Amino acid sequence: MTVHFIGAGPGAADLITLRGRDLIARCPVCLYAGSLVPDEILSHCPEGAEIINTAPMDLDAIVAACKSATDAGKDVARLHSGDLSVWSAMGEQLRRLKAEGIPVSVTPGVPSFAAAAAALGTELTLPGLAQSVVLTRTPGRASTMPEGETLTNFAATGATLAIHLSIGNLDSVVTELTPHYGADCPVAVVYRASWPDQEIIRTSLAAMKADVPEHVTRTALILVGPALAGEGFEESCLYATDYDRRYRPQTADSPWSSWSHGDD
Ligand SMILES: C[S@@+](CC[C@H](N)C(=O)[O-])C[C@H]1O[C@@H](n2cnc3c(N)ncnc32)[C@H](O)[C@@H]1O
Repeated sequence: MTVHFIGAGPGAADLITLRGRDLIARCPVCLYAGSLVPDEILSHCPEGAEIINTAPMDLDAIVAACKSATDAGKDVARLHSGDLSVWSAMGEQLRRLKAEGIPVSVTPGVPSFAAAAAALGTELTLPGLAQSVVLTRTPGRASTMPEGETLTNFAATGATLAIHLSIGNLDSVVTELTPHYGADCPVAVVYRASWPDQEIIRTSLAAMKADVPEHVTRTALILVGPALAGEGFEESCLYATDYDRRYRPQTADSPWSSWSHGDD
């Protein structure tokens, strides 16, 4: 019996992988992480499934629920919002389950930063403006940041920043980023990306504190960097007419001319 960790996506019920949906549909037990997993996703559970909201549970209780299900011969679907690779608390559960000898699997989900970028209709890496995206956060009540992982340090790179779990820390976001990006740097705050009540606030570092509405107190992503302007960038070489590449050799003596599928 296996505990299947499944990324449930950012909110919209249809932003889950087919693999994730099918796994949910064949697990008689489903543990899901609180308010960020919509009811429609839970509707993929088979009839009569035991569905447990883990928001009020501690780690011991969650592991005990998994163990009792697998001991009883039942597979478990373990749902977390977005993707599991960032801020899902999967790591500590995996460690405990492996110590108990319980098999696990991991199925990725659509992360909130990707859903936010889609809502904006924006590419976060634009040639000449930004070629890196930093997924980060600011310290919270339950989490300190490792030394060196400061907004100031990340800002020094000029990359696009996707700042999670930080809508309550706007003062420090503005203070730490402004010296590097400038007060006019474009910012997009996406509240509940992909949910029916999604909101997009396009602003700047200087205006962000005034522009973010009072009700936006959680489930919001702050995207900062010149790429958010969506203009002032170069075209990539990839589709340039004269760019010599494997799928579009430009001359007979191009190194790609003799390449054929199967050579790789
Ligand atoms: C505990 S983390 C979970 C991250 C998640 N594992 C992911 O892949 O995005 C929660 C934070 O992710 C961001 N977040 C999650 N879902 C979101 C959504 N639908 N819209 C905007 N931000 C979201 C917010 O910054 C929120 O504070």
